Amino acid sequence: MTGSTPRAVNAIANANGTSAAVDGRTPATPAAEQHSPFRPIRIGPLNLRNRFIKSATNEGMARGGVPSKALVAHHRAMAAGGAAMTTVAYCAVSPDGRTFVDQVTLDEASLPHLRVLTDAVHREGAAACAQLTHGGAFNFLPSLSTGYPLSASGGFNAAGVISGRLFKTAMTPADLNRVAAEFVAAAKRAEACGFDAVELHMGHGYLLSQFLSPKYNHRRDGYGGDATLRARFPAQVLARVLDAVGNRLAVTCKIGVTEGFKGGATASDAVDVARVLERGGAHLLVLSGGMNVESPWTIFGSNMPAAAVEVMQNPVVKFATRLMRLWEPRVTFRPLYFLEHSRQVRKAVAMPLAYLGGATSLAGVEQLMQEGFDCVTMGRALLHDPQLVNRFADGSVLESGCTACNQCVPLMYSEGGTACVLRAPNDVQLNRMPAAG
Ligand SMILES: Cc1cc2nc3c(=O)[nH]c(=O)nc-3n(C[C@H](O)[C@H](O)[C@H](O)COP(=O)(O)O)c2cc1C
Repeated sequence: MTGSTPRAVNAIANANGTSAAVDGRTPATPAAEQHSPFRPIRIGPLNLRNRFIKSATNEGMARGGVPSKALVAHHRAMAAGGAAMTTVAYCAVSPDGRTFVDQVTLDEASLPHLRVLTDAVHREGAAACAQLTHGGAFNFLPSLSTGYPLSASGGFNAAGVISGRLFKTAMTPADLNRVAAEFVAAAKRAEACGFDAVELHMGHGYLLSQFLSPKYNHRRDGYGGDATLRARFPAQVLARVLDAVGNRLAVTCKIGVTEGFKGGATASDAVDVARVLERGGAHLLVLSGGMNVESPWTIFGSNMPAAAVEVMQNPVVKFATRLMRLWEPRVTFRPLYFLEHSRQVRKAVAMPLAYLGGATSLAGVEQLMQEGFDCVTMGRALLHDPQLVNRFADGSVLESGCTACNQCVPLMYSEGGTACVLRAPNDVQLNRMPAAG
């Protein structure tokens, strides 16, 4: 799948570039065909067979950091179900960059396991993307190599109310250089084990979004200030990753279109960030929103169920989350809940954009295509039914059965890993078996 020429992960597109074989339905009009989500697309050096991307959803399938056979089966199912690309969630760029111990670190030891995964995805005709992440001050690790967790700025750590790490430290120029190099090394390892793309996680409150956020970034050294200056370090990471792998791998960035709380970054900030990343040569932006600590309901467009709190094992996390439930706003799920914010970014840049957030129906996806989004990224709808893209394509299903109950979220901490509660439970044994061997 790798090589300097555009990779044809599109096993199904026909010679004139339309996707008739994927899309069993005959488009009603040329205009409908022009906007069909089943058309192939090129993202940097990568050809995708259609516009559907499986969003990174922490799988809970790497106990002790070892990718399991369940992780492989999960992503194979997404690929077999018709998505053009499936994203392996939260691949930490270093041990300190993890949020939890049960997460993949993109180190040498992970490579044979991840190779099994990428091979399985490729056999189903899809592409595989590794989400490269550093958690910064948002982590629940028992130990770190630094005294305090790293972030854009030092001082009180809001995430520490949950994690117990009450202070964070501002990254020095040497830290910036080292962490950027860790992203590069992780991207090279992703390439070495067969990934077709890397997604730089710049959202949800992790390290790179701690730079983008006015709440977290108070620097006065050229890496802080307005949204454009706050984007300087994330853009440097992008530049270095592009230099290292960008001719062969698609390099995408997941950003927030709103942080979803007073004093957080807005859609107008997202526009500035998108312009910086467009100038920096990113191949695609995935438009998300919300922050893990301040506004998790914004990420999901709906609240966490009480059950999500009860399965938490860390008593501090459990206590803080219970407390948060007392004042969190009630958010009622609505399809395409980031559309108004994402439109502002769409208007501002010409580069490829992937919409994300409550894409649950074929009509909704078609609307996104009409509005000029290039791809759609889907999380819960594909957890509910990995075959959804195929079913959209053959017309047998027009609307996902996902109820946005968010009960899949606490299951990421369960023995079987992340799953939809409306489906059969995951095979716990499979999740105990290393992917390779
Ligand atoms: C169980 C679960 C785990 C998630 N883990 C991650 C993650 O590791 N990285 C990430 O960027 N987003 C994560 N997300 C957020 C999703 O990628 C996505 O932004 C969110 O679910 C909204 O999209 P949707 O409406 O299509 O589900 C997770 C979502 C769910 C449901």
